[in-house]
Amino acid sequence: MVDERKDHLWKVAQEVEERIDELDKSVGHPIGIDVGTSKVVAAQKRAKAIETAWQLNAFIPVPYSRFTETILGQNEISYFREGEQLVIYGTATERFANMFNAECRRPMSDGLLNPKETAAMAVLETIIQSMVSKARVQGEVLAFSVPAASEGREAQLIYHEATLRSYFEGLGYKAVAVNEGLAVIFSELENNNFTGIGVSCGGGMCNATLAYLSIPSMMFSIARGGDHIDRAVGTVVNEHATRIKVIKEETLDLSRAPKDKIEKALHIYYEELTESLVATLRRAISAADKLPRADRPLPIVLSGGTARPRGFREMFERALKRHPLPVEISEIRMAQDPLVATAKGALIAAMYEK
Ligand SMILES: Nc1ncnc2c1ncn2[C@@H]1O[C@H](COP(=O)(O)OP(=O)(O)OP(=O)(O)O)[C@@H](O)[C@H]1O
Ligand SMILES: [Mg+2]
Repeated sequence: MVDERKDHLWKVAQEVEERIDELDKSVGHPIGIDVGTSKVVAAQKRAKAIETAWQLNAFIPVPYSRFTETILGQNEISYFREGEQLVIYGTATERFANMFNAECRRPMSDGLLNPKETAAMAVLETIIQSMVSKARVQGEVLAFSVPAASEGREAQLIYHEATLRSYFEGLGYKAVAVNEGLAVIFSELENNNFTGIGVSCGGGMCNATLAYLSIPSMMFSIARGGDHIDRAVGTVVNEHATRIKVIKEETLDLSRAPKDKIEKALHIYYEELTESLVATLRRAISAADKLPRADRPLPIVLSGGTARPRGFREMFERALKRHPLPVEISEIRMAQDPLVATAKGALIAAMYEK
């Protein structure tokens, strides 16, 4: 008798699971995608966990030969053929650039599609396609990150957003743009009712957004990030920016005194970046009209690859002491995973859109 009931319950549970699977298939899976200057990160929900995948948003064209093509294939380097060229793209690009002491090229610069790169959208599409396939169900929701407008680049942002939107719609998605700073708030400030300041320091830009209950009251971006640091340091120490980037990512520690010329220059430009970010944050909050009255101090969350070095949070905090904000701050904390916070936030935005 007990066994029969167990059997019955087991069957019911199995049927429920099958129904959920079917429903899942008919509704489709929402996707969040962070289209960044430096990286493209995709986030999707699989069972109960959020899965992320990423590719470097970079490429290098090399002259076509059958021999080169074979070698690239054997070494699992992603490429496509474009006339008389083989275009190496994605994560292998950096390895290739370091090996041949060449500079990577980028489909995007300073947060937006690069107008100087004619191949920009073709490469970006290939990179995105390596992570996101066509919608399984017409109208599946895909949320993609866009930066806030920075002074003088408003028109370029409109073009960037519209180009990406029409590409994603062509894949069958209902495409929704989500501001980068707001995506950080979605990803990291659920326990604060999506109230606080989200900051993303990326490769091409720094973005910041202040939201109350998920509604943004202020957002801005500055067209400077990790790439600017690499270029500026490269210029003053006479090295390729690509090499500086590797050193920065592998060794930089902002909490201790710099050991050599490169580290000294890295500290100088990091100071300059945080100073200008916090000064702009102060100005933007002071200028924002209709700022709701918060009943409690606001948390600040820092994310993005440029915020990763040890000591960055403290550097940001010191800059904040020099430029106190007109709102009270409860804490400054790092995002759980600074490299995927924007993509996770975009996924959350996509899930709410359904
Ligand atoms: N450990 C690290 N230390 C210092 N910098 C790092 C580290 N890891 C990544 N970065 C830097 O972070 C930047 C990339 O960050 P991220 O992936 O957040 O940018 P993105 O979202 O692609 O760009 P953006 O948001 O500006 O369009 C690069 O400049 C990279 O060199
Ligand atoms: Mg980013």
